[in-house]
Amino acid sequence: MTDEPLNIFEYEQAALAQLPPMARDYYMSGALDEITLRDNREAYDRLRVRYHVLADVGDLDTSTTFLGRTHPWPLVIAPTAFMRLANPEGEVAVARAAHAEGVTQGISTLSTSSLDEIAAAVPDGSRWMQLYVFRDRELTRDIVQHAEATGCTAIALTVDAPVLGRRERDARNAFALPPGLSMPNLDRLAGGVRSDRAESGLLQFFADQVDPSFSWKDLDWLAAVTKLPVLLKGIVRGDDAARGMDAGAAGVVVSNHGGRQLDTSIATIDALPEVVAAVDGRGAVLVDGGVRRGTDILKAVALGADAVLIGRPVLWSLTVGGEAGVRRMLQILREDFERAMRLAGTRTIADVTPDLIAPAIQ
Ligand code: FNR
Ligand code: LAC
Repeated sequence: MTDEPLNIFEYEQAALAQLPPMARDYYMSGALDEITLRDNREAYDRLRVRYHVLADVGDLDTSTTFLGRTHPWPLVIAPTAFMRLANPEGEVAVARAAHAEGVTQGISTLSTSSLDEIAAAVPDGSRWMQLYVFRDRELTRDIVQHAEATGCTAIALTVDAPVLGRRERDARNAFALPPGLSMPNLDRLAGGVRSDRAESGLLQFFADQVDPSFSWKDLDWLAAVTKLPVLLKGIVRGDDAARGMDAGAAGVVVSNHGGRQLDTSIATIDALPEVVAAVDGRGAVLVDGGVRRGTDILKAVALGADAVLIGRPVLWSLTVGGEAGVRRMLQILREDFERAMRLAGTRTIADVTPDLIAPAIQ
């Protein structure tokens, strides 16, 4: 008998039982009726695999190259805010775990650890910086340049959040950061995440600070303040993806923010093929939302993704086991993916092709 979680769903159950209600609700919530939150997962479960047999899968190679780095397997940690709600070491613990497993980590603009702390703990870790564009453009520029100076190798510009989606549990709880937690990347912004009424303090913070007028024409501004490749995170349409690539993006993340922004948005795995066709090999295509099993990763890669990102699974495993919990979760998911590749008769990532996915059975 073991009590150790066997899969991500068991990490989730354990974390939900353990977290204080305000943090639990913030992490788990989707927007409004959470239709997209559920559909991100159910859309994977609807897909069926046409596996190969007798393919000699003794010697597996899961490595893959995108954005100038060879990754040991097609997975990146998504940027999620406020990791110290899960564990006192927050983003730093995740950085150590990610580095130990060779995985790239996305750092949220709203991280509760500073870029300097993360870089000091893991000087040669692979990191990307997620960016929200503030009304204060100088602050935004400073965040980008600080990220560059502390070893981040890409900017993931989040494009699906001109305003924050409404998560009703957070409104009910009047979500606020507890005393002792802060957003060190933003220490110049007065106020922080507080709530003085029956509404999420984060929703109010976004309305006050994030610039909803940022648009296609402002991408040149970002390109002028950084040499780093820019990924557009939050795309679900081919035309937007093509427009981004024309504007000089290095790639896109097909994402609906884990169902936390526009409820009833299309599930990301359903949106992926259209975006892959539009990007047409001109850059990286990643996808996130609801990836919980090795077969989900197999399906995403089959449909043209270079890699997947995982958000909540990191928060659940960080809650349950800190740095060691995140490492173990990554190992479990990697083993699950390797088994899925072998059982599908695929030996390399190049073998994971669209014909593995069965056309929808009506
Ligand atoms: C997020 N996400 C997110 N995205 C982003 O660009 N900046 C951010 O600060 C955050 N913060 C954040 C907090 C929490 C609690 C969650 C759950 C998500 C979205 C995240 O990067 C990713 O798109 C989703 O989490 C992917 O879906 P799954 O893996 O959580 O289903
Ligand atoms: C969220 C923001 C911070 O989803 O991205 O809560």
